[in-house]
Amino acid sequence: MSTVLPAWFPLLQHALHANPQPSARYLQLASLDDSGAVTCRTLVCRALLDATASLVMTTDLRSTKVKGLKHHRQAEACWYLPARQQQFRLRGEVTLKGPGRSASLRDELWERLSEASRQTFTRPAPGHSLGQASAFTHPAPTAPPDCFGLLVLQPFRVDYLDLAASPHERQLYEYRAGEWHQRPLNP
Ligand SMILES: Cc1cc2nc3c(=O)[nH]c(=O)nc-3n(C[C@H](O)[C@H](O)[C@H](O)COP(=O)(O)O)c2cc1C
Repeated sequence: MSTVLPAWFPLLQHALHANPQPSARYLQLASLDDSGAVTCRTLVCRALLDATASLVMTTDLRSTKVKGLKHHRQAEACWYLPARQQQFRLRGEVTLKGPGRSASLRDELWERLSEASRQTFTRPAPGHSLGQASAFTHPAPTAPPDCFGLLVLQPFRVDYLDLAASPHERQLYEYRAGEWHQRPLNP
C-alpha cells in the first residue's frame, strides 16, 4: 500500500468525530463462508490505523467468519454514520492476528474490553450448539486467550455516499497500480 493517506481516511475520521456515541462504531461486515456463501454480521470497529489506513475489529478466532476468511480473504464493511448521513462501503483484504502477532495492539484492545466481553472468550466456540441452557461460570481471563484475535481490514476500494449534501454526493476511491484513484459517481 502507498504511504500517502487516502482521501477517504480523513473523511472517515471526521465522520467518527461527528458521531461520538458508542453505537456509531458498529459496522456490518460481509464475507464468504468456507462453502462460498455470502454471510454478514455486525462488528465493532475498535481502532483505525493511520499508518496503513486500515480498520481493526476484535473477534473469536474459532468463529464461522474466521473459518471463511481463511479461505476467502476479501470482505466488505458497510458503515453508516448518521450525524451527517454518511455511508462508507469499504472493500478489502482481511488479515487475522492471533497470539504472537501485533501483540501490543492485541493486548491493548483486550484491556479495553468490558469484563462481560472478555468472559465470552471462555465459552464454547461461537455457533456451538447448546443442547440445554448452560451456565458460563468461568471468570474472565486477565491475559488475552488464544481464541482472541484481531481482524484487520485493509481497504482497496471505498464507495462513499453523502446524503446530507445537496445534491447527494458519491465518490469512489480505488487503489490501483500502487496509488489511490478517486472519481465522482452519480449516487
Ligand atoms: C451490536 C453488536 C456488536 C457486535 N460486535 C462484535 C464484535 O466486535 N466482534 C464479534 O466477533 N462479534 C460481534 N458481534 C456478534 C456478531 O454480529 C456475530 O453474531 C458473531 O461474531 C458470530 O458471527 P459469525 O458466525 O459470522 O462468525 C456483535 C453483534 C452486535 C449485535
